[in-house]
Amino acid sequence: MSSNQLDKKSQAWSALFSEPMSDLVKRYTASVGFDQRLWKADITGSLAHAEMLAAQQIIGADDLAAIQRGMAQITQEIEAGRFEWKLDLEDVHLNIEARLTSLVGDAGKRLHTGRSRNDQVATDVRLWLRDEITAIGGLLNELQRALVEVAEKNAEVILPGFTHLQVAQPVSFGHHLLAYVEMFSRDAERMGDVFRRTNRLPLGAAALAGTSYPLDRERVAKTLGMDGVCQNSLDAVSDRDFAIEFTSAAALCMIHFSRLSEELVLWMSQNFGFIDLADRFCTGSSIMPQKKNPDVPELARGKTGRVVGHLMGLITLMKGQPLAYNKDNQEDKEPLFDTVDTLKDTLRIFIELVAGITVKPEAMERAALRGYATATDLADYLVKKGLPFRDAHEVVAHAVKFAIQRGMDLSDLPLDTLRSFNPTIADDVYEVLSLRGSLNARNLLGGTAPAQVRAQVARHRARLA
Ligand code: ARG
Repeated sequence: MSSNQLDKKSQAWSALFSEPMSDLVKRYTASVGFDQRLWKADITGSLAHAEMLAAQQIIGADDLAAIQRGMAQITQEIEAGRFEWKLDLEDVHLNIEARLTSLVGDAGKRLHTGRSRNDQVATDVRLWLRDEITAIGGLLNELQRALVEVAEKNAEVILPGFTHLQVAQPVSFGHHLLAYVEMFSRDAERMGDVFRRTNRLPLGAAALAGTSYPLDRERVAKTLGMDGVCQNSLDAVSDRDFAIEFTSAAALCMIHFSRLSEELVLWMSQNFGFIDLADRFCTGSSIMPQKKNPDVPELARGKTGRVVGHLMGLITLMKGQPLAYNKDNQEDKEPLFDTVDTLKDTLRIFIELVAGITVKPEAMERAALRGYATATDLADYLVKKGLPFRDAHEVVAHAVKFAIQRGMDLSDLPLDTLRSFNPTIADDVYEVLSLRGSLNARNLLGGTAPAQVRAQVARHRARLA
């Protein structure tokens, strides 16, 4: 085989290779189609590495200047869409390095001193993900603020609280929304945890064993704003647990969106009629002129499957990999990128969607009045009159059965009738049987009383300020 039959890619490693890759294998093994997204992190990491190489006198000051000049030009080319990405050069790293060398010559060839693509790619993914986690944290806070706004406005609005999707007890709609604020605040905390473990530096691990050059890893970490260096070279190049952890946190967050979406879809259905969503988040039907469908929450529920799938993909990717780097890890990028994109889009759209919810308090209250939502309140009332709770529970069950047979609410039963179930019942029972009385009675930390909802709103505001 003549040397000009060797494609550029096999030239990229060595003269060892005696035959070129087929186009199919090239396509199969290349990642540049998707990992070019890491270009900025790649250049940032390379500049920090080069700057340290010069400080340690491993390369010359003139080399560093040439590398900086070349990278500035490459940045411009990529930003202007003028950079020519080559499949032959496999990935983002080799593409940028080859262009650098074509621009600045030998200095470009010195950049890779004391470095391998194994520690390079691990560094790039961490740098990229770290910034995405920060952005996601900001969006999570914005979402929580949007929910807190709507919760405050609806502290006094009553809807039926459900267990088993059966009417259970009346709750404040504000309280209901604040449940999601709790979930999203934990999601934000989890992102903060993942950030700490992501923001560590693999560079210096080189291919797997470290390197013989006197690198100053701490210096590179500091330049890159990282919280420290990975302490074991084999681990540094091979584990992707930070990506798995992130995707797990993202999947949980999507599951919270999915639960909220499920409720929005139910609430918007004619059978509930609790809310309306702004038209801009819905679509119509091509055949049924009356339809307005809650597409955005439905899609958020659907996209949750995709992110959970990415988590399964990444976990499985790691399973069975011997130390250290294996090419399997190239497969971490697409699921990770799609997880970030899906989560960020969902966050952005829900920040708007939440602010555009039209609440229908009458329909909510009407629904709360069906289903004997205050039966527990009657039992608690009897306990306060001296009955043991289990006996009170039994008395109320009889009263509810009686009311169901007559198609009446407990609060519609005359006092004499109520007293026939237990003589301690007096006129003050009607306040207890009212939705508002039930709500106000649950005035303890974490309870649904509007006073508690307002206290929680204040706490969240202070926390999110
Ligand atoms: N494209 C590769 C990846 O994403 C870069 C590292 C390749 N390293 C290697 N020894 N082939 O993981």
